[in-house]
Amino acid sequence: MTEPTSPASDKAWSGRFSEPVSDLVKRYTASVLFDQRMWRQDICGSLAHARMLARQGIIAAEDFAAIEQGMATITSEIEAGQFQWNLDDEDVHLNIEKRLTALIGDAGKRLHTGRSRNDQVATDIRLWLRDSVDTIDQQLRNLQTALIGLAEIHYATPLPGFTHLQVAQPVTFGHHLLAYFEMFARDRERFADCRRRINRLPLGAAALAGTTFPIDRAFVARELGFEAVSENSLDAVSDRDFAIEFCAAAALVMTHISRLSEELILWMSPRVGFIDLPDRFCTGSSIMPQKKNPDVPELARGKTGRVFGHLTALLTLMKGQPLAYNKDNQEDKEPLFDTADTLIDTLRIFADMVPGIRVKPEAMAAALRQGYATATDLADYLVKKGLPFRDAHEAVARAVRACENRGCDLADLSIDELRSFSPLIDNQVFAILTVAGSLAARNHIGGTAPVQVREAIARARLRL
Ligand code: ARG
Repeated sequence: MTEPTSPASDKAWSGRFSEPVSDLVKRYTASVLFDQRMWRQDICGSLAHARMLARQGIIAAEDFAAIEQGMATITSEIEAGQFQWNLDDEDVHLNIEKRLTALIGDAGKRLHTGRSRNDQVATDIRLWLRDSVDTIDQQLRNLQTALIGLAEIHYATPLPGFTHLQVAQPVTFGHHLLAYFEMFARDRERFADCRRRINRLPLGAAALAGTTFPIDRAFVARELGFEAVSENSLDAVSDRDFAIEFCAAAALVMTHISRLSEELILWMSPRVGFIDLPDRFCTGSSIMPQKKNPDVPELARGKTGRVFGHLTALLTLMKGQPLAYNKDNQEDKEPLFDTADTLIDTLRIFADMVPGIRVKPEAMAAALRQGYATATDLADYLVKKGLPFRDAHEAVARAVRACENRGCDLADLSIDELRSFSPLIDNQVFAILTVAGSLAARNHIGGTAPVQVREAIARARLRL
């Protein structure tokens, strides 16, 4: 048996190895092809760490100056697309560190003092995700603004409200749009809450147990804008809860987007015809010349699946992992990146598309003339005259059946016909059987009366 006399390769950790990894293993274990997009966060984190090392007298001030200068060079190289990413150097961290050392020599080799890639990568992801959360919040806000804008135009435009996809009661289109405003408002709350837990500094945990150097974690946290340092070093390097929370919040955003998409698709179907979408969000068919398909909402509905998949992937990734860091965790990045990319693109497109929705109020009004949307109003009317609600319900059900047989609406019945279902009915009934009367009567906070929708819009604006 012979001891290796020289390192098996020039890898950062190759000192104890007797043979190099195969090309396949190299490709299998490397993450640089996808984690290089965290380069800016990696450099920020390294600079904060190095500044702290110098302040604490762990490295010399000249070393820090050299590191700062080297990182500036690397930044311009990457920005100019001239940086040589190398699979042999595994990941974004080692690629940058290696280049730094090539540029500035020993000072570059001192950067990793009191640190490990385990706390380094956890820091990078948190920084990256924090930025993504801020971008997503802005996009959600833009989409909310777009919804309010359209709701303002249509605060009084009547539309059938559906339950079970059957005509239920009249609502206004503005009221309907504000329901989505609320969903996205909750999404923003969830991301803000998740951001608090993203925003804690793992750096200082080193590999898993902390470090023997007299580091100042609070200083690094302040430098990087973290709210606090993580309390336990084992947890710091292994925790990915924040990534799962991010994906869970994202999955709910996509749930909401898919519901809105489904409605847009349905509304745009010629069978319904409530809206039209601008051509730039649709495509045609290569065989059927007449077609204009709502591709953007359909694709958004479809992309919901991949975001759900990423949430499941991360939950499964973390399930059963013993403390502390395991290489499994390298698999957290692609799902996270794709989740953020999908969300940001989808929200941007929707914020752009919503103001372009062409509403067809005549089609909405025509749909309201079918389906006895004011039947509940008639029942409520009888209750106000003293009839118990169950009896009122029964009387109106009989009236609806009579209308169905004759193919007419409740408002088309004569006063005598109506009175045959309940003698409590008088001439004033016709006012409440109209759509406008039905809408106006739901005059309380959260109701669909146009005056209320207008106030809801004003409140929504303030909440932005
Ligand atoms: N590329 C690795 C990751 O993404 C960095 C941490 C590697 N740590 C280690 N001990 N191999 O998780």
